[in-house]
Amino acid sequence: MKDIAVVTGASGGIGRAVAKAIHEKSEGEIRVCLHCRGNQKSAEALRVEIPESFVVSADLSSAAGREALLDAVMKEGTPYILVNNAGVDKPHEPALQIEDASFDAIIGVNLKSPALLMRDFGKEMAASGSGVIVNVSSVLARTALVGSALYRASKAALEALTKQFAAELGPRGVRVNAVAPGFIQTPMTDSIAPEIKGKILSQIALGDFGAPEAVAQAVCHFIENDYLNGAILNVDGGMGL
Ligand SMILES: NC(=O)c1ccc[n+]([C@@H]2O[C@H](COP(=O)([O-])OP(=O)(O)OC[C@H]3O[C@@H](n4cnc5c(N)ncnc54)[C@H](OP(=O)(O)O)[C@@H]3O)[C@@H](O)[C@H]2O)c1
Repeated sequence: MKDIAVVTGASGGIGRAVAKAIHEKSEGEIRVCLHCRGNQKSAEALRVEIPESFVVSADLSSAAGREALLDAVMKEGTPYILVNNAGVDKPHEPALQIEDASFDAIIGVNLKSPALLMRDFGKEMAASGSGVIVNVSSVLARTALVGSALYRASKAALEALTKQFAAELGPRGVRVNAVAPGFIQTPMTDSIAPEIKGKILSQIALGDFGAPEAVAQAVCHFIENDYLNGAILNVDGGMGL
C-alpha cells in the first residue's frame, strides 16, 4: 500500500492547491486524502483531477470527526504527510465583544483539531519511523487586526505547538513545521470589504494578495527539505515590513 498525504480542508482555496502540489511533486508515489467538511462537491471535483486520491468528509471540531478521518486513512495505508490546513476566521469580533461561543467555533477548529490530529497521526508516523507535519498558521499570529483576537490567539498557539511537537517528534523521525500565509486569494478573503482590502494592500510590499499556489510551494518545501524542523515560514509578499 502507498503512503498517504492527508490534507485537511482540501475543499477550500489553499487546501486544494496543496493537495495538487503534493500529488505533482510526488509524481504519484503518494496517495492524497482530500478532507472536507461540508463542501463535498469541491472535494469530489478535486478527486477527479488527482489520480488515486480519496475523499473523507468530517467535522474536525468533534472527536468523532477526527477519529473518522484517522480510521479512513489507516484503512487505505500509512500516513506519511499531514497538512493541518482546515480553518475558520469568523466570527470577526472586536476584543471587547468576544462571545463565549466564539471560543469553541474558532479555537476548536484552528487549534484543538490540529493539535489532536498531530497527536493521533504523529503516533502512527512515529511508529512507522518517519513523517512530516505542516501546520497552516497565519501572519496574524503576530499582528493585531481588529476583529481577529481569537483567530490570532488560535494561530499563535498553533505555532507554539508546532515547535513543541517538533521537539518531541523529531527524535522519532517526524518533522513538524508551519507556514504562515499573509493575505491569499481564497473564499476566506473574498468577502473583505474594498476599503479594508485597500488598507491591507498598502501594507504588502509586493502590492497584492498571494495565490494559493505560493502557499502550496512552501508546504512542499517543508516536505522535501529533511533538515527543516520547528520552523515557521511567512508567505506574505512582505507584510508590515
Ligand atoms: N486565505 C488567507 O488569506 C489565509 C491567510 C492566512 C492563513 N490562512 C489559513 O489557511 C487555511 C485555509 O484557508 P483558506 O483561505 O483556504 O480558506 P477556505 O477556502 O475558507 O477553506 C477552509 C477549509 O477549512 C474547512 N473547514 C472549516 N471548518 C471546518 C471544520 N469544522 N472541520 C473540518 N474542516 C473545516 C473547510 O471545509 P468545507 O468548505 O468543506 O466546509 C475548507 O475546506 C486556514 O487555516 C486559514 O486560517 C488563510
